[in-house]
Amino acid sequence: MIPLALLENLKNQFLLDPDITFLNHGSFGACPKTVCDNLQDWQNRVEKEPVQFFETDIFPLLADSRKALGKFLGCEGDDLVYYPNPTHAVNAVARSLKLKAGDEVLGTNHIYGALDFTWQQVCKDTGAEFIKADLPLPINSKDEFLNIFFSYVSNKTRVIFISHITSMTAMIFPVNEIIQFARQRDIITIIDGAHVPGHLPLNITELGPDIYTGACHKWMCAPKGSSFLYVKKSLQNEIMPPVISWGWEGELSKTSLFLNRHEWQGTRDMTPFLVVPEAIKFLNDNNWQERSQLNRKLVVSTRNQFLEFLNIEPLCPDDWLGQMATIELPIDDPLEFKRSLMANYKIQIPVFSWENSTALRYSVHFYNTEEDLNRLVVAVKELLH
Ligand SMILES: Cc1ncc(COP(=O)(O)O)c(C=O)c1O
Repeated sequence: MIPLALLENLKNQFLLDPDITFLNHGSFGACPKTVCDNLQDWQNRVEKEPVQFFETDIFPLLADSRKALGKFLGCEGDDLVYYPNPTHAVNAVARSLKLKAGDEVLGTNHIYGALDFTWQQVCKDTGAEFIKADLPLPINSKDEFLNIFFSYVSNKTRVIFISHITSMTAMIFPVNEIIQFARQRDIITIIDGAHVPGHLPLNITELGPDIYTGACHKWMCAPKGSSFLYVKKSLQNEIMPPVISWGWEGELSKTSLFLNRHEWQGTRDMTPFLVVPEAIKFLNDNNWQERSQLNRKLVVSTRNQFLEFLNIEPLCPDDWLGQMATIELPIDDPLEFKRSLMANYKIQIPVFSWENSTALRYSVHFYNTEEDLNRLVVAVKELLH
């Protein structure tokens, strides 16, 4: 069982309102105090000597931060560039690929909604076709999933875009097998790992995607606006930043054109990127991988309680769950249910419609306890009766 004393201790290290049972780390993360302090320190340093900071200091500081992040993610720091969020990163990539009529981009119906809009629009603009593999619930096995997904691949498929952990359905997808399949067919893989860093151990080099984006501001507990784009070396010169600025002709440093073009996007606040090593320190100092295993057990045991009292089947096998799970609920008005959970029980949690069903998704991280989850189960039972 979870060492409760230890977990309670960690809630004190966050700025979260102690009166609220916070079960929505998945949407926007939450930062420990040490990370917030470090962000403030960097901002103070910028304001003490802005010219020195932006003209001289920033690029070596970014290089150090990327190096630390690369070590954490299992790739070279120079193959990563910081982005404010995965949405920006996927937009930059999608617009860079020079898709054309006859090309197909293959996604799934579990795609994050904003990025569904992105691919639809980019395909509309370029004449390519955006195809969403329909992976109905429940998903019973990896083989079943892969058979359905691969049945949508054609000789026109140029790109596969897939979530590593899905947003609404909160499942770990078998991206390893998909990447290997795509590599044999020269299909570009773009993995949306928004939820993965700090949630699952990740080694990008071993996984071998062409392109991978992840948020540092979610499960790594880094400041909002810190995320990354990884591009394998052979594709780097094809991926353009959203903004053309200094660095365009490679004049900023001796490293790659990729870094030159992406790092300077006009004057902006880059301090969240510099805090990433402090967030990694927090994760490592607090045994994040062991805690993640414990949290996953708690996610599964909580799901079992829901399945039993709602008398429903699981949406996916237990080992497809990380530190989040989605539970379908027999309700018509998700917003009202969410409002009641907050108003009556002070529980912060997303409740939403997905395809033809209504569901809630709970997240479990450093500061959650078994009691938080029990409180949720009791509250849902009471509201449904
Ligand atoms: C799977 C997935 N991809 C992408 C995103 C976008 O993240 P951001 O808003 O930080 O760009 C999210 C956000 O929750 C997500 O769940």
